[in-house]
Formats: sequence, structure tokens, C-alpha cells
Amino acid sequence: GAPVEVDVSKLDMGQRVVAEWRGQPIWVVRRTDDMIANLDKLNGELKDPQSEADQQPPYAANEWRSIKKEYLVLIGICTHLGCSPLFEEEPTVELQYGGFFCPCHGSKFDLAGRVYQGVPAPTNLVVPPHSYTSDAVIIIG
Ligand code: FES
Repeated sequence: GAPVEVDVSKLDMGQRVVAEWRGQPIWVVRRTDDMIANLDKLNGELKDPQSEADQQPPYAANEWRSIKKEYLVLIGICTHLGCSPLFEEEPTVELQYGGFFCPCHGSKFDLAGRVYQGVPAPTNLVVPPHSYTSDAVIIIG
């Protein structure tokens, strides 16, 4: 499929926009400073906090899993059996700093798409290939 352009110039802090690429949902979340700061606190609860498994391009193989810390780009498909996790921008019982919760079998991911320990999903959510053409335009693919 052709690359897809996502304009994030009007995306509010803490919010998500959904696009589609190759028939898959693409999520872009504009993370607040608090959301970014909280990522560090979760490392001990995650299966792969430094993203060492092969779930992202090399430029997103880091703790925040993106090119710019402000913008998280993910394929919105659970790495267990393919359901679509829910975006929780506020803290919930399951996700103390927010994140993504899969209603199918309870897998939990933080706001970098990193999977928690003790849930069925084996790996972090997948980061698609992406790049920037300007400060606020992301090309997926
Ligand atoms: Fe998401 Fe099973 S498909 S937890």
C-alpha cells in the first residue's frame, strides 16, 4: 500500500488521532510532558522496557519508542490475538498512568505501547515505519 500522511498540527496534547495504512489502524498520540515522564516509572513492570525485541524500526528502539518523544506512532492491533486495544488517556484501575487496554484478554500497554508483565500479549505494540516531512506532518510507510 501507498504511504499515508497524518497531519498532527491540530492534535491536542494528550489526544490521539487514528489513520489507516495497509488496512491497519494507525494511532498517533501527542504525549504530554507528564505522560513522557511517567514512562520511566514503569520500566520494572514491563516485559521489554528498552524495546529490544523487533517490534519497531531502529529509530524507535528506545524507551519512548518514537522519533520525537512528543509523538507516539503505533499500529493499533494487540500483539496477542489481534483485537483493538482501548486508548486510556487518563489513569484507570488497570493503568495507573494511562495507556492501552485490550478488552479481549486483558493485555495492558503503556503510553509507549510497551507491554506489561503478566498479560497474554507477548510483545510491545508494533511501531510502523514512519518519518516527518515537517514539524507536524508524519508519513506512515
Ligand atoms: Fe488482546 Fe488477547 S487479543 S489480549
